[in-house]
Amino acid sequence: MDKIQLRQLFDYETCTYTYILWDLNTKDAIIIDPVLEQVNRDFAYIEKLNLNLKYIIETHVHADHITGGFKLKQKTSAQICYGSKTGVEGADILLDDGDKILIGTHELSVIHTPGHTEGCTSYYVKNYIFTGDTLFIEGTGRADFQGGSSSDVYDSVRNKIFCYPDDTIIYPCHNYNGLNMSTIAYEREHNPNVGDSVLKKDFIENEKNKKRPYPKRIDVAVPANMKCGRDSIE
Ligand code: FE2
Repeated sequence: MDKIQLRQLFDYETCTYTYILWDLNTKDAIIIDPVLEQVNRDFAYIEKLNLNLKYIIETHVHADHITGGFKLKQKTSAQICYGSKTGVEGADILLDDGDKILIGTHELSVIHTPGHTEGCTSYYVKNYIFTGDTLFIEGTGRADFQGGSSSDVYDSVRNKIFCYPDDTIIYPCHNYNGLNMSTIAYEREHNPNVGDSVLKKDFIENEKNKKRPYPKRIDVAVPANMKCGRDSIE
């Protein structure tokens, strides 16, 4: 048996998805985008399944919630991983485009996908891609803060994410409509922002015209996340 298992968990307060992946043979595990308020839930899950949490992996410096990364590291001694372009302090491993992380015998590939933020990183393993806030189900992350660039969002999605096979399953960092996954084929056809039929200049123009409110937790969440959540725990 050489299989990887995935569990998707949801934070109802911030509509954030957290993912736990593990190798069924070795029980080596990673967690992607843990939320501070959900660390006890996540840790209970890890304990129940008797997993060895090796890596705590972030898709980016979040503006809407504080990461549970540092608290989970204290409980498990797993290593905190961020994209190298995030500029965070206190990560154990800074990942570059093309790097690999092992989940037991399975390779997780690191893909730098800037745009929503400068340091945004997506991850690919098996036929799953974790797209953070770069690509949502029928949407894309805003690009008006944290070194964001709508031009980069478009290029990241079209040149780095959409080149994976059609049946690749997309797991985003958020969904606000009760949807939990998508596929490359679906998003290429139906994503209203960056689907195959949308030209780059139109995407950039559309983004410019979107009137989005100031993110309500950004002033607390970003400084905390720049330190991997270190100063946010009692
Ligand atoms: Fe974000």
